[in-house]
Amino acid sequence: MKKNILVTGGAGYIGSHTVLELLEEGYGVTVVDNLSNSSEESLRRVEKLTGKRARFVLGDIRDAKLLDEVFASEKYYAVIHFAGLKAVGESVREPLQYYDNNVSGTLVLLGSMKKAGVKTMIFSSSATVYGIPEKLPLTEDCRLSAINPYGATKLVIEGILQDLQRAEPDWNMMLLRYFNPVGAHESGEIGEDPKGIPNNLMPYIAQVATGRLEKLRVFGNDYPTPDGTGVRDYIHVVDLAKGHVAALKGYVEPGVHITNLGTGKGYSVLEMVHAFEKACGKPIPYEITARRAGDTAACYASAEKAKRELGWQAELGIDEMCSSTWNWQKKNPEGYGC
Ligand code: NAD
Ligand code: UD1
Repeated sequence: MKKNILVTGGAGYIGSHTVLELLEEGYGVTVVDNLSNSSEESLRRVEKLTGKRARFVLGDIRDAKLLDEVFASEKYYAVIHFAGLKAVGESVREPLQYYDNNVSGTLVLLGSMKKAGVKTMIFSSSATVYGIPEKLPLTEDCRLSAINPYGATKLVIEGILQDLQRAEPDWNMMLLRYFNPVGAHESGEIGEDPKGIPNNLMPYIAQVATGRLEKLRVFGNDYPTPDGTGVRDYIHVVDLAKGHVAALKGYVEPGVHITNLGTGKGYSVLEMVHAFEKACGKPIPYEITARRAGDTAACYASAEKAKRELGWQAELGIDEMCSSTWNWQKKNPEGYGC
């Protein structure tokens, strides 16, 4: 029988790519999204690509009545919980909004899941929970800390999920810690569509390549890294989406399953710039500026646990990350345009 998955935040960047993989794997999908950082167009395009439709419910995960209705309307195998706010700088300026949306939203969702007897959840955690890395590569048992309110919401939610599972051992909690998701579906139909000026490296470079932004500012070249610029573990969003399917299939027993989703390999800012230049065939103008507050020199995953426990590992490399981003950006210079 078809397993139904409720995907919160499924119209967003990682959500839409995961919905596509779920539909292709034969799952039934319902998306609940308030479209605060996305547009329904992403799901229309997923339908075009797969020939299959995800049911879309416009709404907020803090709305218990709405969630109860959704859970009453169908039997769900699991919830994949992407819905959340994710801009670090904004979280520093608006901490209450972040705690309310991310933490209160998750509490309301868990309450509705409990009522409905749906006790399997995949939660979008982040490498940000490692704070300033204790050691590299980062293994799941490394020390955790929050260095901004966004990171604090992820740590608090991880704690809530673990406490709940301890109190009620029939819950199956999968905490997936993403490293730096980049790239787009190979069709160029869906991709990352940040509102306003991007904060993150890859969408910024992509908008420099189209001429929408003038030049990249490289935040510091005096880090203790091979070329002095920051090193991160960039992971293709399609690999990341497949990691969710692998977790759904692999973690079937109740418990708390904590897993990094990264490639295990770090690239510097300048390596990313040069790879993107190769993909788009033109130079990316950049200037070196001061370090960005809160940045660490290097951050990359140990990807061993996911490989061992789920048989999952990233397949797509830096060239596919850049070429797919460029393909999406070229085809959709204004994103979804909504
Ligand atoms: P995104 O903003 O594209 O997607 C999040 C979606 O959630 C959006 O569609 C938004 O409209 C929706 N949403 C937000 N608050 C909601 C609410 N209260 N009710 C209903 N819908 C709501 O972001 P993304 O990059 O796809 O990230 C998905 C998840 O992964 C987030 O939880 C994020 O914190 C986490 N994550 C992202 C990254 C990254 O770099 N993109 C890295 C690590 C973790
Ligand atoms: C950022 C967040 C992190 C979040 C992650 C999600 C901060 C401090 N950290 O991580 O909490 O989990 O996004 O993907 O915001 N860079 C430039 N110029 C730019 C943009 C970035 O040089 O215009 C550099 C950064 O200094 C860094 C690298 O590029 O070395 C990657 O930056 P970014 O894409 O913002 O990701 P993170 O800093 O890893």
